[in-house]
Amino acid sequence: MNPNKALWEKGDFTRIAESMRESGEALVKNLGITDGLKVLDLGCGDGTTALPAARLGADVLGVDIASNLVEAGNKRAKSLGLTNCKFQEGDASDLHELRDDSFDLVVSIFGAMFAPKPFDVAKEMVRVTRPGGRIVMGNWIPNDPTLVAQILKISSSYSPAPPEGFISPMTWGMEDNVIERFTSAGVPKEKISFSRDTYTFNFPGPPSDLLAVFRTYYGPTMNAFEAAEANGRAADLQNELEVLFNGQNASPSKDATSIPATFLRVSVAL
Ligand SMILES: C[S@@+](CC[C@H](N)C(=O)[O-])C[C@H]1O[C@@H](n2cnc3c(N)ncnc32)[C@H](O)[C@@H]1O
Repeated sequence: MNPNKALWEKGDFTRIAESMRESGEALVKNLGITDGLKVLDLGCGDGTTALPAARLGADVLGVDIASNLVEAGNKRAKSLGLTNCKFQEGDASDLHELRDDSFDLVVSIFGAMFAPKPFDVAKEMVRVTRPGGRIVMGNWIPNDPTLVAQILKISSSYSPAPPEGFISPMTWGMEDNVIERFTSAGVPKEKISFSRDTYTFNFPGPPSDLLAVFRTYYGPTMNAFEAAEANGRAADLQNELEVLFNGQNASPSKDATSIPATFLRVSVAL
């Protein structure tokens, strides 16, 4: 089984995504969605950005490598009565099932960054976007002090070394790498722009309960705990993450969690 697919099917990302809905809606509101706009949401999960885009009138295809998330997305679209939003399985590194120039907007929020072969991912995103269209990516930033970059950093320090030749997803959070990948796909450098943006994780319980959700359902954290348990280091990992989650919580209430996390927003104009 493809290890990338196995990682995301292992847990249940819908449980994390529930804490990201408000930021997903806010991001989509600023994308200039108009009626009938053809949107591809790549690495869409269960539709945190795909569904709000469809609610604004776009014609949305969500593509994700994890079959459980595709199923969850289609269920959510159905329960909202959205007939203009469909989810299907696919790999951001190879979108052979999608035709050239078929989307006005390709969005990938913390999605395509996790696919292997980043140069192929950039090429595929460019290929399926029509001339005059746009690509918008949200990517976590390596060594950023905020939540997700730190979860991934701490988790990787408890996990076995990745296989030879593995390219970290976090390299999508470095401007030079992003420029290299899109220019290799034929995009002029001046068409690529960057800004810093924030996603806020909102959860109706204390930070330790949100951490428990990550420990139980978020593939990268689940793998880190498995490795740490095998080495007798699970308590250390738990402590490090507790300090992180508690320290980042901006909620005035101890019984609620609101954690802002910084990401690199990439915009590519074709
Ligand atoms: C952190 S989640 C983000 C999901 C969604 N974009 C959101 O904002 O909630 C990462 C997503 O990328 C998907 N993914 C990972 N590798 C992929 C690949 N090669 N092709 C397509 N999707 C992939 C995962 O299955 C998962 O749904």
